[in-house]
This record gives sequence, C-alpha cells and structure tokens, in this order.
Amino acid sequence: MTEIAVHVRGVDKTFRTGRGRTVEALSGIDLEVAAGEFVSLIGPSGCGKSTLMRLIADLDTPTAGELTVFGKPAPRARLDQDYGIAFQKAALLPWRTVRGNIELPMELHGMPRAERRARADELIELVGLGDFADRHPDQLSGGMQQRVAIARAFAEKPRLLLMDEPFGALDEMTRETMQTELARICAETGAAVVFVTHSIPEAVFLSDRVVVMSPRPGRIREILTMDLRGERTEELREDEAFFERVSAVREALHGSPSAGAKGVENR
Ligand SMILES: Nc1ncnc2c1ncn2[C@@H]1O[C@H](COP(=O)(O)OP(=O)(O)OP(=O)(O)O)[C@@H](O)[C@H]1O
Ligand SMILES: [Mg+2]
Repeated sequence: MTEIAVHVRGVDKTFRTGRGRTVEALSGIDLEVAAGEFVSLIGPSGCGKSTLMRLIADLDTPTAGELTVFGKPAPRARLDQDYGIAFQKAALLPWRTVRGNIELPMELHGMPRAERRARADELIELVGLGDFADRHPDQLSGGMQQRVAIARAFAEKPRLLLMDEPFGALDEMTRETMQTELARICAETGAAVVFVTHSIPEAVFLSDRVVVMSPRPGRIREILTMDLRGERTEELREDEAFFERVSAVREALHGSPSAGAKGVENR
C-alpha cells in the first residue's frame, strides 16, 4: 500500500467575519496526496487554496471534516515538523541574515553548528544568493526574500513541502530555473509537495496531478493526472504532450472546452 502524505476528507471551512456574517471558503474537500507525489492546486483568486494549505499546516482548523498528515492529525504533524513550508509571503525574521533565517529550523532541532552552516551554504548556492548570505531581508528584493524562504523550507529535507505561490514574486527566468530545481530536488529526495500556483504551465510542468478548484465556496472541480513521463527538463516545455496538458487544465479551469472557441490561445 502506498503511504499517504496528506489525507483530506470532507473538509469544510467557514469563516465568521463578525455581525453574524460568514464566508464559506471551502466545501466538501476530499483529497489524497501520496508520499512522493507532486500535487498542484489551481483556481480563481479567493477560491480557498491558501485556506486549504493553512488547514493542512494546522495554522487554522476545519469547520468540518478530517485532515491527516502521514497518518497523524494535523496538530501532531505540525509539532513533529513533518513538513517544510514556503508560503505567499516570505515570513522571514528581519533581524536575522539570509544565512541565519535558513539555519533557523536546523537550529531549533539542535543540529550542530558546523553542519547547519554547511547545509545553509549549500542551500544559499542552490537558490542563487551566494553574494547575499550576510544581508538582512529588508536589503533584498521580494523575489530574493522568497528564495530565502524556499531554501529554508528545504533545510531539513522534509518528506512533505507545502508551497503556496512560492514563485509568485520571481521574474520569469528565475521562476523557470526554480521550477527545474524544485523538480530535481523532489526527484532526489522523494518529497511530496502540495503546491499552489496561478500559472497553468507551472502546474503542468511540476505536477503529477493538478487539482482544479471552482470559485467560492471552494470545491474541487476536477483532478487531472499529468502523466508526463520522465524528467522535468527544459525540453518538456516544448513538448506536444506538455501543451496538451496545459490546454486540458485551462479547459477544466474555465469550466468547458468552449474556452478555446472564445479565442483563448492554448498553445
Ligand atoms: N481569516 C479569514 N477571515 C475571514 N475570511 C477569510 C479569512 N481567510 C480567508 N478568508 C476568505 O476565504 C476565501 C478564500 O481565501 P483564500 O486566501 O484561501 O483564497 P486563495 O484561493 O488563496 O486566493 P488567492 O489566489 O488570491 O491567494 C476568501 O473569500 C477570503 O476572503
Ligand atoms: Mg492564496
């Protein structure tokens, strides 16, 4: 039996916004992410993607339903730090340098100084911030801050990564480089990933499956299996099969194949 990294069953989330008003953010979410699987969530702004990520990370609790991470209730998994997180906002500690921020989780886990320093330097190179290791976050651009957060998420080679638009603030070239790197790291470490993005090609490039969500209340509209065999290389971006998947996800997102007929260019 395959190990399940994330299991979401019948999850609803309703926010109370005061004066008796409520916002139904998620409704009846069922999702299983297998160990080592890469799953992307895509859907219109406000459909509940970040909410779902926050529930998995136990930063908020569902109104109904059940949620487990590696078979444990979400709060237990959070305490055990079973995953790395890179969210929409980089959330770096302003008083720590780039290296200090990346070292933080390793420090908290009592990794010896020399070891965590070596690992941090490796990660700093990986995200292309070699010249900025001793800078503080406020001296970096938004995209650079995001790269620090990504490096930090990888620090302890987690079995699961929760990434909410981690590449949103990056320029197109850096973004493609980071995608290729992420795919490589995942293949190497066998990490499962739950990944939120607004970019269809990004979701297709990275994912084993793409979860298409509908507008509020967020529901799962369709789950598409990418089935793009082999490595995520630059050639894949030019491949016919890649374009086909991009079209399929776009059609699912628009709710009907007629999107093409309305003049949306799929290729
Ligand atoms: N703490 C909160 N209190 C009240 N409403 C909230 C709260 N957090 C989120 N919401 C509402 O829940 C809905 C889903 O928000 P969420 O941030 O999950 O969307 P999203 O899919 O991540 O959007 P985006 O693509 O813009 O990041 C929105 O209508 C939002 O206003
Ligand atoms: Mg969001």
